[in-house]
Amino acid sequence: MEYETLAKEKLPKMIYDYYASGAEDEWTLKENRYAFSRILFRPRILVDVSKIDMTTTVLGFKISMPIMVAPTAMQKMAHPDGEYATARASAAAGTIMTLSSWGTSSVEEVASTGPGVRFFQLYVYKDRNVVTQLVKRAEKAGFKAIVLTVDTPRLGRRESDIKNRFVLPPNLSLKNFDGLNLGKLDKTDDSGLASYVAGQVDRSLSWKDVQWLKSITPLPILVKGVLTAEDARIAVQYGVAGIIVSNHGARQLDYVPATIMALEEVVKATQNRVPVFLDGGIRRGTDVFKALALGASGVFIGRPVVFSLAVDGEAGVRKTLQMLHDELELTMALSGCRSLAEISRNHIVAPWDPPRVTPRL
Ligand code: FNR
Ligand code: LAC
Repeated sequence: MEYETLAKEKLPKMIYDYYASGAEDEWTLKENRYAFSRILFRPRILVDVSKIDMTTTVLGFKISMPIMVAPTAMQKMAHPDGEYATARASAAAGTIMTLSSWGTSSVEEVASTGPGVRFFQLYVYKDRNVVTQLVKRAEKAGFKAIVLTVDTPRLGRRESDIKNRFVLPPNLSLKNFDGLNLGKLDKTDDSGLASYVAGQVDRSLSWKDVQWLKSITPLPILVKGVLTAEDARIAVQYGVAGIIVSNHGARQLDYVPATIMALEEVVKATQNRVPVFLDGGIRRGTDVFKALALGASGVFIGRPVVFSLAVDGEAGVRKTLQMLHDELELTMALSGCRSLAEISRNHIVAPWDPPRVTPRL
């Protein structure tokens, strides 16, 4: 959170606003944070916590902690090293980076930074040849999963971007699309990104396209943007490898619940058939613990990465990941959990839980 303040001082207003904004009244943006503060701990005492294991496995890949990097677009606006720095910091932390379709570095460039488990976030273009080519390139570059974003048939109404007439700075482009002449955002009398989405993104996208995607790639597919039990059940039927409970960092539909409020119904609906992840408002190790206690297999962080990247490049992102790692470890120790498997529903109390009544003697 301190990085956000520092980034605001450092970045041009148009860029800071793009990173920080939520949709419309930004009710969900605030709620993504506040909702965590309504969930409290029920710590267990006198557990030997001299050794704490935070490692976990995501889609078969062993990582150092259940904290991963969410896709955020256009990272070179934050820092000249952009996605390269994020890739290196994530690999150094032993965790997974998700590269946005709309990175200012391409899949090949990010792969060139060296080893590391990486996922590729996909926006589906009207022109399916574009999508097929891009997915093939991601496979070839060694990306291990496709994160299909399903909450963006149109861009949410982010009013600062509209007022700022947001565009990419002229020296940058959406690198994955350079060769296709789709790498630039035009200046319009709207947010340049909203216009780009309206022009290129396929708003007819539906469940049958999940099947189509499965037919063009052997990579596992995670659907990002599920908020209801109904959709979680359908996602499982369509054979997705996992679900990310996300409201896109409160940038799409305003007045959806905080993701931490929607998590448990999604977890219950999937009946342990696929892993469920969460993003949105994770700023503390305690937030991660609460998400795991409600059934998440891991979490992703968005803005903390772009803000620390803006302030201090790769070192900033490393520091963010380290701080969250250390805070989660401390939360586990103080709650009496030695491994992620030991974090249980009984370690927290949520506002929707029935009151605990003292039994009558
Ligand atoms: C995003 N997010 C996003 N999601 C996605 O699927 N593709 C994308 O290109 C982007 N780009 C993007 C840019 C910026 C600046 C932000 C803040 C967010 C959403 C992102 O993956 C994630 O869902 C949220 O950022 C999580 O919330 P927090 O951690 O930012 O609170
Ligand atoms: C955003 C898009 C790029 O949230 O996902 O800005």
